[in-house]
Amino acid sequence: MREQKFCLGIETTAHTFGISVVSFSGEILSNEKHVFTTEQGGMIPNEVARHHEQWKDQVLKSALEKANVKLSQMNLISVSQGPGLAPALLIGMRYAKELSKKLSIPLVGVNHCIAHLEIGNLVTASVDPVLLYVSGVNTQVIAYEGGKYRIFGETRDIGAGNFLDQFARALGIGFPGGPKIEALAKKGKQYVPLPYCVKGMDITLGGILTNLKQKIASGKYRKEDLAYSAQETVFAMLVETAERAMAHCDKDELLLGGGVCCNKRLQEMAIKMCKARNAKCFIPPNSLLVDNAAMIAWQGILEHKAGKSADLETIDIKPYWRTDQVEVIWR
Ligand code: ATP
Ligand code: FE2
Repeated sequence: MREQKFCLGIETTAHTFGISVVSFSGEILSNEKHVFTTEQGGMIPNEVARHHEQWKDQVLKSALEKANVKLSQMNLISVSQGPGLAPALLIGMRYAKELSKKLSIPLVGVNHCIAHLEIGNLVTASVDPVLLYVSGVNTQVIAYEGGKYRIFGETRDIGAGNFLDQFARALGIGFPGGPKIEALAKKGKQYVPLPYCVKGMDITLGGILTNLKQKIASGKYRKEDLAYSAQETVFAMLVETAERAMAHCDKDELLLGGGVCCNKRLQEMAIKMCKARNAKCFIPPNSLLVDNAAMIAWQGILEHKAGKSADLETIDIKPYWRTDQVEVIWR
């Protein structure tokens, strides 16, 4: 039997504490997680950190069991170094260092946003895509150009996931809002005009949220129609900026990433736009769209194969790490 090498990936940038085992040839053997949730209110960073600390051993155990490998068989540890919530990132970093020391195997720290793109290249047929990355905090259009991954467009205020979550809270339908808004929107009949906020390649969402809150308070509109209209408006803004980046970079592949891209209506709009410009649209499965550790493991493998290895004494978290600051050594 051919000897297999394995990477253990650790993801802790936000809500999700994830651990995954991926082989060096790109087989995802397990992709486990436990997600911090609240009945009411948002994320308090220290509570998220406490959650991750509490669940880490259990998630590791189930990731190894699912993969049917032993911890001692790991050859590499990869951890998400940023961007994200500092207290949450610290839990992952500490755990990664501890495991790397204990097993005497190398550690690499990787960029969470770029990992969303590279896992898409692994599991779909995309090669050099524009990534539309839409999650809770992040809303960015990213592509590789001139030796770097660059952000061509992004939200200037809140992420589209946070927008949907806050809108859902205003409607009184709970958290996380994305899937609930999606279900409600299917029953929408009437399009209610909303501000359309695209500025060049960037978007803003705060104004639309305020407008929606006023419309909810007026009592004049059906919840279903507001959900439908919010989706149509915001998703059109996202797809428009992604299309502009594709035209600007002369790329004919679009890749989706981030939890909001689980939304079927957003997927449909992205596919339609790509068809109209003779481009291909690639959509990874939901488990790899949301925050996950498999993408962290795979990104670690790519960078390790290219020669990267962290110094355990000096490696640190990078809560504000920008996509274009990443040194691209693996392509
Ligand atoms: P980060 O921003 O650091 O990537 P995150 O934990 O917010 O972290 P994800 O797990 O990628 O990121 O996404 C979570 C978001 O996705 C939530 O805001 C949630 O409402 C949204 N979401 C999940 N499913 C759907 C859906 N079907 N439609 C729209 N939004 C969705
Ligand atoms: Fe993410």
